[in-house]
Amino acid sequence: MHGMNVRVGTSDPGTPQVRRVVGLVGGTGALGRGLTRQLSMAGHRVRIGSRDLARAEAITAMMGSGVVAVTNQGACDADLVLVTVPWSGHDEILLSLRDALTGRTVVDCVNPLGFDERGPFPLSVDAGSATQRAQQLLPGSVVVGAFHHVSADQLASDDLLDSDVLVVGDDRDALHAVIDLVDTITGLRGVYAGRLRNAGQIEALTANLIAINRRYGVQSGVRIAGLD
Ligand SMILES: NC(=O)c1ccc[n+]([C@@H]2O[C@H](COP(=O)([O-])OP(=O)(O)OC[C@H]3O[C@@H](n4cnc5c(N)ncnc54)[C@H](OP(=O)(O)O)[C@@H]3O)[C@@H](O)[C@H]2O)c1
Repeated sequence: MHGMNVRVGTSDPGTPQVRRVVGLVGGTGALGRGLTRQLSMAGHRVRIGSRDLARAEAITAMMGSGVVAVTNQGACDADLVLVTVPWSGHDEILLSLRDALTGRTVVDCVNPLGFDERGPFPLSVDAGSATQRAQQLLPGSVVVGAFHHVSADQLASDDLLDSDVLVVGDDRDALHAVIDLVDTITGLRGVYAGRLRNAGQIEALTANLIAINRRYGVQSGVRIAGLD
């Protein structure tokens, strides 16, 4: 590892895993449901947030123990707050939660993508990426980017997971916390992939993966070669 000396895949067998409270803003959607399933199986407590508490309650009823339904505001009361809303609602929801997210570690999972007759493509974002935009909007929070390219369908299925999760950020402690969280999910490995300014390529890469999925009828993922 060059530069930041951030660990890769740190959950060695025998290392006690920290149980986290994870909040999901927009947790009722495809990614939120998939992550909830995996995180609760890994022993974490999950707070599924929604603009409509009844929607979160309906999803929570299908999940196991350790999962609670909350408003998006309530989802911010967590060790790590994952943002799993569409890009179209990203800025507005983050602005509305700015106070609740102050002092929190926020994990932006949002991909600014467009879709037309030629397939998926990355949208241009003035801030450089959704993740950088989140940090602009939330100056009192520490923003990390992760889970952008992990298939929600795969997280929700019984298939064994076997892929890396690229994690970007500028704060070492927050990066450690997010990489460690990824590592608690069986079959996923968190990999430090650069500072926040490198989030855009990862968000855009998801357009390639969706194109691959459509062409080959698979749920593709990312695996970095050369790491132990
Ligand atoms: N799907 C995937 O495989 C996948 C994988 C990696 C990353 N992502 C990224 O993760 C994000 C969520 O994807 P998704 O497929 O889970 O999306 P989704 O199902 O369309 O939406 C997720 C949730 O966001 C909330 N929401 C919708 N519009 C909103 C708005 N305008 N403002 C605030 N909240 C809104 C909704 O919850 P309530 O109505 O309950 O509030 C919805 O259930 C996207 O940015 C996507 O690029 C997706």
